[in-house]
Amino acid sequence: MSTLWIGTSWKMTKTLDEARAWSEGLREALGGDTAQAPAGVQPFVIPSFTATTTVRGILGEDSPVLLGVQNAHWEDAGAWTGEVSVPQAKDAGAQIVEIGHSERREHFGETVETTRLKVAAALRHGLTPLLCIGESADVKEAGGSSEFILDQARGALEGLSVEELSRVVIAYEPIWAIGEKGRPATVEELVEPFAALGAEYTGKVAGLLYGGSVNLDNAAGLLGIEHVTGLFVGRTAWELDGYLELLRIAEAHTAA
Ligand code: PGA
Repeated sequence: MSTLWIGTSWKMTKTLDEARAWSEGLREALGGDTAQAPAGVQPFVIPSFTATTTVRGILGEDSPVLLGVQNAHWEDAGAWTGEVSVPQAKDAGAQIVEIGHSERREHFGETVETTRLKVAAALRHGLTPLLCIGESADVKEAGGSSEFILDQARGALEGLSVEELSRVVIAYEPIWAIGEKGRPATVEELVEPFAALGAEYTGKVAGLLYGGSVNLDNAAGLLGIEHVTGLFVGRTAWELDGYLELLRIAEAHTAA
């Protein structure tokens, strides 16, 4: 059984006080100074940039919880007002760079080309690219989901060596299933896209995650889908209790 990646992006939420409370609670729940991840589970958290160093400071350098940023530029430095580079993210304690979330593709002009550049930048600096892919409701209705997400993945991962690809995590997050306006996907709906992704990437990447309206009722079922090796979660994990319960569900799944 592969390690199950269980992580959350806080998107644009949480003050520093809230970030501190969540992180301190997680650290304590995992054992404080001798914190350990649940067996078979790789936890990760992706706060806003402003909370990166705060969360790193609380979790500690050797935390079993990986820390990420929600975006990073492909250049190492320069005149790119408002952007943060991978070396800067690394300097602040990040180990993961989330790339290509649908909210960034929709609102901030992220394209297959920019995701490719960003994946390369993360790998160049030894960070884990967490590449998000997913189709719209229209694409799904037209029956093109698998083809669409494979195109997104292939475009972003083009030209990588076997070793580089082995450091990439992919999160399949159908746009129609994400956020307040999304509706939770059924297991049946996800079997085919994961079969397509799995045929190409299982055993070659570090993880193949599902995301989009994951909650405490559907998490176990989603982890049971063939090729799924983790969950990437928004709202359900923003309250620490929700995140801790997801970790327990994943631990039970690996033990089963
Ligand atoms: P959600 O967000 O769990 O709140 O639907 C998922 C995501 O965008 O990664």
